[in-house]
Amino acid sequence: MTSLTHLECSLCEKKYEPGKVYNLCPCGGPLLVRYDLAMVRQSWSREWIRNGPSSMWRYAPVLPVRKPNAIVSLGEGMTPVIRAARLGERLGAQNLWIKDEGRNPTGSFKARGLCCAVSMAVELGIQKLAIPSGGNAGSALAAYAAAAGLEAHIFMPRDVPQSNYIGCKAFGAHVTLVDGLISDCSRLVAAGVESQGWFDTSTLKEPYRIEGKKTMGYELAEQFNWELPDAIVYPTGGGMGVIGIWKAFEEMQALGWVSGRPKMIAVQAEGCQPIVRAFERGQPRAEFFENASTVAAGLRVPKPLGDFLILNAVRASGGTAVAVSDAEMLDAGVELATLEGMFGAPEGTACVAALRRLLASGFLKPQERIVMYNTGEGLKYLEAYSTRFPRHAESEQDKLGGLITPR
Ligand SMILES: Cc1ncc(COP(=O)(O)O)c(C=O)c1O
Ligand SMILES: [Zn+2]
Repeated sequence: MTSLTHLECSLCEKKYEPGKVYNLCPCGGPLLVRYDLAMVRQSWSREWIRNGPSSMWRYAPVLPVRKPNAIVSLGEGMTPVIRAARLGERLGAQNLWIKDEGRNPTGSFKARGLCCAVSMAVELGIQKLAIPSGGNAGSALAAYAAAAGLEAHIFMPRDVPQSNYIGCKAFGAHVTLVDGLISDCSRLVAAGVESQGWFDTSTLKEPYRIEGKKTMGYELAEQFNWELPDAIVYPTGGGMGVIGIWKAFEEMQALGWVSGRPKMIAVQAEGCQPIVRAFERGQPRAEFFENASTVAAGLRVPKPLGDFLILNAVRASGGTAVAVSDAEMLDAGVELATLEGMFGAPEGTACVAALRRLLASGFLKPQERIVMYNTGEGLKYLEAYSTRFPRHAESEQDKLGGLITPR
C-alpha cells in the first residue's frame, strides 16, 4: 500500500534504502521519508480516501508502513475541525476554526506520531523503545508500546503533569523522573541506547513520527474539501507539528491535490522561545534557551533539533513566530472553554492568545480563514488550571456539598 521509496537526510541530502533501522544521518541531519508521489498521483485519487478507515491510516499510501499487519492502531486521527464563531467574534476573526487534537488516544496529537513510530518498530523488529518527553509524547509511546507488547523507557522532567506520569505507569512503561529539562532527559536516553540497546524514539532522531504528524495536514485539506486555509496557528516545542503539516502541504501540492500554502505561525511560551528569537534575528538555527520555564510542558524545548526545518517552513510560508505568557495561555484556555465548550491544553490555548495579538496587529486579517490546532486535552493539565480555580476545603461549594450528601 505504501509508496515509500527511500529516506533522505534533511541536511546533506544523502539517500538511505528502506527496511533498515535508522536514527540521524552521520552529518547530524534528521532523515525524512520520501515517496513515489508521481505513482500515487496516477494510482490513487482524493475521492478514494473517503472509503478508507476513519483514522489517520486512510492516508496509508503516503505513510511508511510496508506490512499492514504491523500497524498498531488505537483509533488515532480524523479529529474534528470545529467552527469557533463565538471565540472568533471576541478576537475579531470571522472565519476561525479549531482542529481538536485533544480527541486522540492519550489526549494529544502525539498519538499520531508515536502510532506511526511504534508500527514501524514492529515492522523492523525493534523491541525496546526509549524517549525523552515533556509528558504527552511519553504517554502516547507508553500506550502504543503496551498495545504492541513492546518495552517503553520514558524519561520526563519531574514536574510533568501528573496525568502523563500516571498514564505512563498505568500503561506499564519504565518511567524515570528527571530533575532537569527535556535536554537532560535526552542525555539519559542516549546513555541507555549505548548501554541497554534501546532504540532512540526522540523527536526527529526517529524518522517516522513526523509521518504520523503530517496526517494533521492531509486531514485538514480533506475536511476543507481540498481548499487550504490562509493561516495555520500551531504551538511549537520540538516542531513536529509545524514540520509535519508543512511536509503534508508539500506532498499534496506535488500530488496536484491542493494549490497555494497557508502562512505557518509558530507559537511558543515567553519562558522558552528559541524559535521566536531566531526568527526575529533572522538566524537559520536557534540558540539554546537558558532557564526554560513554562506551564505548557510540551513547549519547554530549549533547543529543537529540527530548528532549521521549523524556521524554513515559517519563513517560506510568509508566516511568523509569536511568544505568549503562561498567564495568557491559561486565561485563553478558560476563555476558549467558556465560549466554545472545548477545554484545551495550555500549549493549544497559547494559539488563542497568539491570535489575539496577530489580529490586533493586523498581521492576520478579520476575513482570513484561520485554523488553530488545539494539540491536547485540557483535563490533562489539572495542576496548571487549578491556579485559575483554587478549591479550599472550607469553600462555600464544599460546605454545600457536605449538606446535600445523603446520610
Ligand atoms: C499538547 C502539546 N502541544 C504542543 C506540543 C509541541 O509539539 P512539538 O514538539 O511537535 O512542537 C507538545 C509537545 O510535547 C504537546 O504535548
Ligand atoms: Zn546528512
